[in-house]
Amino acid sequence: MSVFFLFSCQSKDKYTSFTPGEHWLDNNGVHIKAHGGGILYDNGIYYWFGEHKTEGEAGNVANVGVHCYSSTDLYNWKDEGIALSVVPEGSNSDIEKGCILERPKVIYNKNTNTYVMWFHLEPKGKGYTGALSGVAVSDKITGPYSYMHAVRPNKGVLPFNAKDIHKGESHTEGISFDGGSLPGNVDSLNILGRDLPTGQMARDMTLFVDDDGTAYHIYSSEENSTIHIAELTPNYQQHSGKYGRFFPGRFMEAPALFKKDGKYYLMASGCTGWAPNAARSAVADSILGEWKELGNPCVGNDAETTFHSQSTYILPVQGEKDAFIYMGDRWTPDNAIDGRYIWLPVQFEGEKFILEWKDKWKLNDFL
Ligand code: DGJ
Repeated sequence: MSVFFLFSCQSKDKYTSFTPGEHWLDNNGVHIKAHGGGILYDNGIYYWFGEHKTEGEAGNVANVGVHCYSSTDLYNWKDEGIALSVVPEGSNSDIEKGCILERPKVIYNKNTNTYVMWFHLEPKGKGYTGALSGVAVSDKITGPYSYMHAVRPNKGVLPFNAKDIHKGESHTEGISFDGGSLPGNVDSLNILGRDLPTGQMARDMTLFVDDDGTAYHIYSSEENSTIHIAELTPNYQQHSGKYGRFFPGRFMEAPALFKKDGKYYLMASGCTGWAPNAARSAVADSILGEWKELGNPCVGNDAETTFHSQSTYILPVQGEKDAFIYMGDRWTPDNAIDGRYIWLPVQFEGEKFILEWKDKWKLNDFL
């Protein structure tokens, strides 16, 4: 029996548990394509947005766009189609087929009654040097989303916690950065100062909407060395200019942020490309800091590789107090389409949150 037949003959509503790392089929029997994704809960339905990867290594660039799925139970997902499409080659658009479009996240804006998508964007053929953030908007959650613009955040604006050294010269001339380390001290190099005229670099990212409706863009900046947390404007389509830099020189990617009992928690990875590494975690009383690192939240076997995954989102389960789901990607860079999803329940221990491997688990495990 062919693998295709096996995958395509599954019936609808077949899942009653999570099985991290296994193929996860949508209502059409096709492995879900929502890598580097995030979830928005809207009118009783969860919507999962993520990168539509395609076959082979070349599937790590955007050949299709951002895929959307919907679910009422978090186990079974209906294909809602492509929410944001890349545009044909030769169009000279920022989101031309073959660009890099990663980690899309969607939030709902009450003021404009629109859905706003942000993503990490690298224009075609330029590797990861662009470090741009793209924005697309739709008045329907499943799309189609209209591409608005791509920016490097906070052009000309210093963060509220800039040091005096950031107001001076940068010392980066002639240095090429590898995205995983620095040839010196992050502050004395002053990458932040180097990027003031163009806006700050923004690669791996997530969004977070606080209880008061203020939205934040959280991204790896300064050659991946430092996380920036930047407030968005009331329509969520631009940066307001209020932002802070955190974890300088710690090289964190894959940020995921959630709030429990008034405290903000961050999970992130280190920087090792598509290969997994040990996760980081941190807690703060205010989203703009002070942040305190809490170490690797993973425990048990494979904790050092985040169970062969990298964080992308931490989902609050609706209607359940203190129920959060870790969403991670197990990347398969040689055949991007086969990337797996690692979803695990978040547990709390003292001031920390922890993650433990489970072959199979149910939402009831939270109760
Ligand atoms: C790690 C990032 O977290 C991913 O989103 C992707 O950019 C890969 N690096 C590319 O190597």
